[in-house]
Amino acid sequence: MMTRIATRAALFSAVAVSACGAAPHDHEHGAGHGHHGHHAFKDPAEWAKRFDDPARDEWQKPDAVIGHLRLSSNSKVADVGAGTGYFVVRLAPQVPVGKVYAVDIEASMVEHTVERARGMGFSNVAGVVAPPTEAALPEPVDVVLLVNTYHHIEARPAYFGKLRGSLLPGGRVVLVDYKKDPDVPGAPMEMRLTPEEVIEEMSAAGYRLATRSEGALPRQYILIFESN
Ligand SMILES: C[S@@+](CC[C@H](N)C(=O)[O-])C[C@H]1O[C@@H](n2cnc3c(N)ncnc32)[C@H](O)[C@@H]1O
Repeated sequence: MMTRIATRAALFSAVAVSACGAAPHDHEHGAGHGHHGHHAFKDPAEWAKRFDDPARDEWQKPDAVIGHLRLSSNSKVADVGAGTGYFVVRLAPQVPVGKVYAVDIEASMVEHTVERARGMGFSNVAGVVAPPTEAALPEPVDVVLLVNTYHHIEARPAYFGKLRGSLLPGGRVVLVDYKKDPDVPGAPMEMRLTPEEVIEEMSAAGYRLATRSEGALPRQYILIFESN
C-alpha cells in the first residue's frame, strides 16, 4: 500500500499554509515559538538538523516514550505536531498492521515525513495537514501522541475536547513536553507548562489523568490521559 497524505487532510493544506506567522525568535529551542510562531516550522531540511540530531536520542529516549504508549501490532496512532517525523518513523515498525498518522499544520513537514517513511519502506504511514484548531484525523485512533507540541496549541480546551471524538474506546492522549525548569534546555520558559497546569486544562477538556511520569526522561514529563 502506498504511503499517502490523507485525502480529507489535503483539503486543509490551503488553510495551514496560507496563515502567516511572525518572525521566529532565536533561542535554544529555535524558531517556532514567536507569537503565532507555530507557523515558522516551514523548512523541514533545516529543522531536521535539530529534531533528528542523533544526539537527541540520549535525552529523548524514544524507546522509553514508545514503551509508555503500550502499542499492539494493529494499533492506530496519531503523532500530532509530528514535525520531521522523528517519532513517526519509530512508531511505524511498532504497528505493522496498524496505522500512524503524521499530523502537522505545516504541509511541508507532513510531506517530508511521509516521504521519509516511504523511503524507509513503511506503508502504514499517512499524512494529515491539519488546521490549528483540530487534529482532523480521518478515523478514530488508539493513541494520540504530542511531543513538544502541546505548548504550541492555542485554545487547548476546545482542541482537546474535540479530540475526544477521535479516540477509540480505551484511547489515550500522551503528552510529552518540557519540564518547567530553567536548567532544562528546551522551549522558552514562558511557554512551558507545569504538569499541574496541563492536568487542569485536560480535566477541563474532559480527560482524567492515567499516568504521570517525571522521572523517565531527563528533560520532559510524560502525562497520559483517558477520556471521561
Ligand atoms: C517543536 S516541533 C515538535 C516536532 C516533533 N513532535 C518532535 O518531537 O520532533 C512542534 C511541531 O508542532 C507543529 N504544530 C504547531 N501547532 C500545531 C497544531 N495546532 N496542530 C498540529 N501541529 C502543530 C509545528 O508545525 C511543529 O512541526
